[in-house]
Amino acid sequence: MATSSDQHTSSQTVAEHGSADSVPPLLQIVGLCASVEGTPILRGVDLTVESGKVHAIMGPNGSGKSTLANVLLGNPAYEITDGSILYKGEDITAWPTDTRGKAGIFLAFQEPEVISGVPVIQFLRQAMSARQGIDLSVLEIRLQMMEWMDKLGMDPAFGERHLNEGFSGGERKRNEILQMAMLDPDLAVLDETDSGLDVDALRTVARGVRTVREARPDLGVLVISHYVRMLEELDVDRIHLLIDGVVAAEGGPELGARLEAEGYDAWRN
Ligand SMILES: Nc1ncnc2c1ncn2[C@@H]1O[C@H](COP(=O)(O)OP(=O)(O)OP(=O)(O)O)[C@@H](O)[C@H]1O
Ligand SMILES: [Mg+2]
Repeated sequence: MATSSDQHTSSQTVAEHGSADSVPPLLQIVGLCASVEGTPILRGVDLTVESGKVHAIMGPNGSGKSTLANVLLGNPAYEITDGSILYKGEDITAWPTDTRGKAGIFLAFQEPEVISGVPVIQFLRQAMSARQGIDLSVLEIRLQMMEWMDKLGMDPAFGERHLNEGFSGGERKRNEILQMAMLDPDLAVLDETDSGLDVDALRTVARGVRTVREARPDLGVLVISHYVRMLEELDVDRIHLLIDGVVAAEGGPELGARLEAEGYDAWRN
């Protein structure tokens, strides 16, 4: 907000602070503390994700990255003890998972669950009906699915397979990206940490995210990754370093290169 003490020109002030009628950030995590089985894991996370930007969370094993993703999903195993999660300016801290999904938040997981007996296409139909609040015909879903599979370079036979059953790591990832594309979220949270992606799968994920972003330039992405390579492929805008449950540093892509070169030790404590 401009004040009389501001030394900036008015255009600088608007650019830096936002105008009075500016839209709230896509996702704003404020002082978030969360525990698992009574053990505090997140200890005051502050993090903002902007519409149309790719944000990345990096950090050592056990620093709380997947915990944060679970809390964003609304996983009841994680107890929020303080702080809040704002989505498009609305406090969603207490919202159940399905309400978050309907509102346009998509989460893909490090270890996707195997859901037995459900073909990919049927799962997508249910998920899309829930997201859009209308029943889509199998034909409509199939057409959209074929279109996206083509864009993402996927084998059309994939849609008939049962969800995650016997999927290779790379296939699971492609499937997640397909889900993301079709569910058309406003915010996608991708936990890619230690999922054992080979270079090709990593490129697939990056290319998939880029393809979806071309169709939806306002999509905000929060990706959790150990791979600077992945962040480069994703053309990441902002990196947040999570250490022991707090954001210890933030920066542009150069922070990723620095973390890779120096390791995390310099940032602990
Ligand atoms: N459901 C759970 N039950 C018990 N402890 C948990 C649970 N989930 C997370 N933790 C603990 O919380 C801490 C943070 O784990 P988390 O999975 O969030 O780390 P991470 O940053 O994602 O690590 P990685 O890079 O290895 O994926 C760890 O000490 C972990 O053991
Ligand atoms: Mg993890």
